[in-house]
Amino acid sequence: MKSVIHAIVIVASAVLPIVSAITPEGMLAAPRRGVALANPSGEFALYTSTNYSFDESEATTVWEQLDLNTGDISTWWTDSNISEVVFVGPSNKSILYINATNEEGDGGISLYTADATDLSSASLIASLPVPFAGLKATSTKSGDIHFLVYALAYPNGTGYNEDLAETSPSTARIYTSIYVRHWDTYLTPQRYAVFGGVLAKSGESYALDGELTNYVTGKCNVTCAESPVQPFGDSGDYDLSPDGSQVVFLTKNIDLPLANFTSSQIYWVPFSGTVNDSVPINPIGATAGAEGASASPRFSKDGSKIAYFQMNGIYYESDRNIIYVANADPENLNITSIAGKWDRSPDVLAWSNDGQTLYVAAPDLGRERVFPVPVDAAADYKPTNITNEGVPAGMQVLANDQILVSDSKIWSSRDIYAVSPDGASTKIYFQANLVDPALSGLGPKDVSEFYFSSNSTEIDIQSWIIYPSNFSAEKTYPLAFLVHGGPQGGYYNSWSTRWNYRVWSDQGYVVIAPNPTASSGWGQNFTDAIAGHWGDYPYWDLVHAWDYVDTNLPYVDTARGIAAGASFGGYMMNWIQGHPLGRRFNALVTHDGVTNSLEDYATEELWFINHDEAGTFTSPNETSTYYRWNPILYYENWQTPHFVVHSDLDYRLPVSEGILLFNLLQVKGVPSKFLNFPDENHWVLNRQNSLVWHTEIYKWINYYSGISDASSPF
Ligand SMILES: *[C@@H]1O[C@H](CO)[C@@H](O)[C@H](O)[C@H]1NC(C)=O
Ligand SMILES: *[C@@H]1O[C@H](CO)[C@@H](O)[C@H](O)[C@H]1NC(C)=O
Ligand SMILES: *[C@@H]1O[C@H](CO)[C@@H](O)[C@H](O)[C@H]1NC(C)=O
Ligand SMILES: *[C@@H]1O[C@H](CO)[C@@H](O)[C@H](O)[C@H]1NC(C)=O
Ligand SMILES: *[C@@H]1O[C@H](CO)[C@@H](O)[C@H](O)[C@H]1NC(C)=O
Ligand SMILES: *[C@@H]1O[C@H](CO)[C@@H](O)[C@H](O)[C@H]1NC(C)=O
Ligand SMILES: *[C@@H]1O[C@H](CO)[C@@H](O)[C@H](O)[C@H]1NC(C)=O
Ligand SMILES: *[C@@H]1O[C@H](CO)[C@@H](O)[C@H](O)[C@H]1NC(C)=O
Ligand SMILES: *[C@@H]1O[C@H](CO)[C@@H](O)[C@H](O)[C@H]1NC(C)=O
Ligand SMILES: *[C@@H]1O[C@H](CO)[C@@H](O)[C@H](O)[C@H]1NC(C)=O
Ligand SMILES: *[C@@H]1O[C@H](CO)[C@@H](O)[C@H](O)[C@H]1NC(C)=O
Ligand SMILES: *[C@@H]1O[C@H](CO)[C@@H](O)[C@H](O)[C@H]1NC(C)=O
Repeated sequence: MKSVIHAIVIVASAVLPIVSAITPEGMLAAPRRGVALANPSGEFALYTSTNYSFDESEATTVWEQLDLNTGDISTWWTDSNISEVVFVGPSNKSILYINATNEEGDGGISLYTADATDLSSASLIASLPVPFAGLKATSTKSGDIHFLVYALAYPNGTGYNEDLAETSPSTARIYTSIYVRHWDTYLTPQRYAVFGGVLAKSGESYALDGELTNYVTGKCNVTCAESPVQPFGDSGDYDLSPDGSQVVFLTKNIDLPLANFTSSQIYWVPFSGTVNDSVPINPIGATAGAEGASASPRFSKDGSKIAYFQMNGIYYESDRNIIYVANADPENLNITSIAGKWDRSPDVLAWSNDGQTLYVAAPDLGRERVFPVPVDAAADYKPTNITNEGVPAGMQVLANDQILVSDSKIWSSRDIYAVSPDGASTKIYFQANLVDPALSGLGPKDVSEFYFSSNSTEIDIQSWIIYPSNFSAEKTYPLAFLVHGGPQGGYYNSWSTRWNYRVWSDQGYVVIAPNPTASSGWGQNFTDAIAGHWGDYPYWDLVHAWDYVDTNLPYVDTARGIAAGASFGGYMMNWIQGHPLGRRFNALVTHDGVTNSLEDYATEELWFINHDEAGTFTSPNETSTYYRWNPILYYENWQTPHFVVHSDLDYRLPVSEGILLFNLLQVKGVPSKFLNFPDENHWVLNRQNSLVWHTEIYKWINYYSGISDASSPF
């Protein structure tokens, strides 16, 4: 069962071949690794690794075990029945895991305890008729285990299992207020809820003690509480105190309509309590200014404090996250903001063992860096980073106070390393680019960056350069000019399986990936400046980026350039098509972009539109941003060959925008092609679909850039 791979040895002795290009197939099939989870004593860590076979159309997941002393990696478990593991129980190796099936085969799950070093010891503790996920667990003084999980629940609070649910003879859906659907899902009466359960110690084993408690369902005012917050919320939206006595969970503000606001609150409830005992710890008014989205509630290791993030803007999803610490006592919360003026927006949070420091990760100059922040830091405290490259997917403070980071970089899909609290030393355990054949040869040398000035802002703007394999500055390569989505967000030093810079450059391009106005990591003002300015500031920045490349990078052949973008980047392609920058590209690619901004309210995320268009929708006229920055107004100028992708399950930006774009291009006789996936949302996730996405887009751009000698772009 255990096939031991000595990763460190392989790394040391690897003879790297002449760098070969990374293909879409190679990137899509290569292992995707989860976040390393260390055991309490910090001796070893577990993580999942999922690869894909195009021949079998099948993904395979295995668990890997990383020895944190020797760095050796071995396969811990080979089938995907174990979907989640937590370390809890009498020894440092005791685990509780979710088996994603159960003996009843009813679509529910089962819970097992085991010794992580001897899985033959696994013993079935409970079979649950609901597909619970998001396991968190802790041992109490008495030796019992308290755990939390989440699932959809009926309005009466009972957990929902689609396999067992009664179906109606009609498929009708009826709504009486806005927020009919979101992301890729129509709202139903079921909402997500956090449940608590007790595994009572009995001898050497455990037994489920009574029913699970739903802490969330039924807390309603204008809307009903739901946790985790959809569509991206997970176990990071709730926490269990280390002694098992208290629970916190996050829900959107129940006093406000869902569509207009991002405001959310953290509720505190005793583990032994019910939904009626829950109270919000940060209702609007609890802390001056803090009215927006909250995130990442986390108990300190001694259980005395709760740290979390909250934004000020009540409907601004990209406002700055401010760090707060409260007493874990609703009678005496004493909420305090930490380094409150720090001009960065952290989004990952972990407590130090002694409760004196918070480790946070925040976008910073094109990376996401880890920063220690003392819990008593004054408002003007400026944290100093202890990591440099990469974007963490997760981090954990180990028993020895080192911080175990699992991140990715443009050249590596997963790196795992431990950094000392002061950043002075780093112990690298794993680098995917040194072991995965598909990533062979990738490294920091593949990437560079430059700063340029624009006329929208005082600060210099950053852009990444990603070179193709075996790059030579003596040669020239056509330009692939990528524009990121958001618009708040950015191109960071991270791995993507959807827009992988290096897969693009390895078609034979130099990729230029700028971070124009709205990008996060250069201060909140740069991000905020986008409101009401979709068509001017970032457009000007992109013109200046292109000019910089044209003037300063002799190895880039701008005359053979193409441009591509998704979401806001797709909007920008449509905008560019009608403006002079469009004439500098041989082809454009829009993935899920706005074509007619008068239709912006076809999304459910009115908070986003209201913020970014700097006002709610009123009857449009020339002074309205909905009108001014509308790509369709410049239809007369459209002429650059244009590839359009839009998928049916994209409810954030409905498919009609892509069809409208394609129809208009066709009517005008502009070379164009439409790619649609009936089963994809705002993102293309299915690997077979993604392969077609890459193949079709590359056929298009490689024809127009002259990289291919095909006789037609189709
Ligand atoms: C777990 O490991 C820590 C650190 O090595 C040790 O102090 C502790 O006693 C261990 N706990 C148990 C229950 O073995
Ligand atoms: C995926 O990983 C498994 C387990 O490590 C391995 O047996 C299999 O060959 C891999 N498949 C592919 C297509 O790489
Ligand atoms: C789960 O376990 C069952 C029984 O051992 C096995 O038949 C099945 O293939 C496993 N499922 C997965 C996804 O590995
Ligand atoms: C998972 O559950 C299935 C069905 O009850 C069982 O056959 C299988 O052995 C379990 N696997 C593990 C690893 O617990
Ligand atoms: C809650 O509602 C569901 C669906 O109607 C039903 O199956 C379940 O029995 C109800 N639970 C309780 C406790 O009444
Ligand atoms: C319910 O929401 C309204 C605002 O729509 C608010 O005035 C009221 O205080 C809320 N009730 C509770 C119990 O929070
Ligand atoms: C919020 O949405 C409601 C519809 O649910 C709408 O009537 C109202 O005007 C909106 N309010 C704000 C402040 O946007
Ligand atoms: C509130 O927090 C501040 C800052 O940490 C601390 O100085 C003060 O003693 C606390 N007060 C109470 C009542 O806990
Ligand atoms: C912190 O960030 C700077 C860039 O701002 C970088 O040069 C430095 O190496 C980073 N520090 C550590 C300890 O990684
Ligand atoms: C951000 O803009 C505000 C208002 O224009 C200004 O007062 C503040 O100094 C700016 N902050 C930074 C860090 O530039
Ligand atoms: C900023 O630069 C862009 C691109 O050159 C130009 O189109 C625009 O007019 C300039 N804006 C101002 C206010 O000068
Ligand atoms: C134009 O729209 C703006 C709001 O977008 C509104 O304030 C103004 O009154 C409108 N003007 C006319 C002439 O309708």
